[in-house]
Amino acid sequence: MIIEPKIRGFICTTSHPQGCKENVMQQISYMKTRPKCQGPKKVLVIGASTGYGLASRIASTYGCDAATIGVIFDKPANGNRTATAGWYNTAAFEKFAANDGYYAKTINGDAFSQKIKEETIALIKKDLGQIDLVIYSLAAPKRTTADGTTYQSVLKCTNQDFVNTTIDLKTKEIIEVTVPKATEQEIHDTVKVMGGEDWHDWMTALEQAGVLANHTITVAYSYIGPKLTYPMYHQGTIGAAKAHLLKTAQDMTNKMQGIKAYVSVNKALVTQASSAIPVVPLYIAALYRIMKQKKVHENAIEQIDRMYREKLFTDTPILDQTGQIRMDDWEMRDDVQQEINAFWTKLYAHKITDFSYIDDYWVEFKQLFGFDVPNVDYTKEVHSDIAIPSL
Ligand code: NAI
Repeated sequence: MIIEPKIRGFICTTSHPQGCKENVMQQISYMKTRPKCQGPKKVLVIGASTGYGLASRIASTYGCDAATIGVIFDKPANGNRTATAGWYNTAAFEKFAANDGYYAKTINGDAFSQKIKEETIALIKKDLGQIDLVIYSLAAPKRTTADGTTYQSVLKCTNQDFVNTTIDLKTKEIIEVTVPKATEQEIHDTVKVMGGEDWHDWMTALEQAGVLANHTITVAYSYIGPKLTYPMYHQGTIGAAKAHLLKTAQDMTNKMQGIKAYVSVNKALVTQASSAIPVVPLYIAALYRIMKQKKVHENAIEQIDRMYREKLFTDTPILDQTGQIRMDDWEMRDDVQQEINAFWTKLYAHKITDFSYIDDYWVEFKQLFGFDVPNVDYTKEVHSDIAIPSL
């Protein structure tokens, strides 16, 4: 079939297998230009099919020569419906990895469930014995816990309603948005979904099953961002969840013998997760333009490669005073943030006339789903029904 993007709001309901394969190949090609890194050898990536999780899987494989098990939550093609981008990414990754002589297997299902934890542990026992790195990279709208309760995460403020000027990325109109204040229940539920509880459950299950090597490292990803986005991110419901993630890391390091748990604060990137946050997509669009002009822009694979090489797998990990790895160091540089502030000042004065970075944002967004990727002929018919070899 010929596959075209079908975008509704910030969701694309189709994906292109060839474009996704090309995206994965580009990340692998980048890693092949990098020197090898003294890192882990057996890695579990939870949330491995897109964004930072996929990049972590690729960096572990090609940077550290590691075997990987990826936990994903993706759908295969069905009739006229294409598979999800994460499905095509994983199918492509497994094939490239096998061709290059690497072990890579995948488990598809709800990472929050006990069933998937048990399946993963059984696969580790069967194939790898023990693992030495666990990357936790889930971004999910909801979580069902063992007692059957489903919690929904929301992207709201925690102090008061917040009004800010933004640009509608579809119409390019300058508009006012109000991000509402969350209820206590909504804050609690967002922490349940995006906080550290499930990460802790994973690490406890893996430890009790005896599948963690001595000196296992585990990393989860966080974001802080500039003061501009504090009301809806750092001090919002998602920020409360990220604070819980950090506390969980500290608790695990203190209480679980032989385990070091870290939170890495990463750079803002166009991903499915970030596109859902109010105002943040415009911030990212402007940020990309500024960071590219200053030649300090990084995508997911460059971030994770630099984290492994320069901050995590060094003699001792390089942490800030709160104990976190800071991969947002270039994003938060004064000269970068000054330009962001200048951009917003112009926006408040309704003096923005150049909208080309918004077009660039949509190219990046479509590329997440395998569209607008260079070197792909979209006029060619493709098979949508692609298998993930290990499933
Ligand atoms: P993403 O949307 O690209 O990836 C999320 C992954 O989680 C996908 O592979 C998805 O399939 C998987 N997933 C979701 N629910 C699942 C479930 N129930 N079971 C199994 N897998 C499931 O998102 P992104 O941006 O890579 O986010 C990953 C982490 O990085 C998040 O914690 C996010 O907060 C953090 N982060 C993201 C930044 C950004 O700007 N995109 C910046 C800094 C941190």
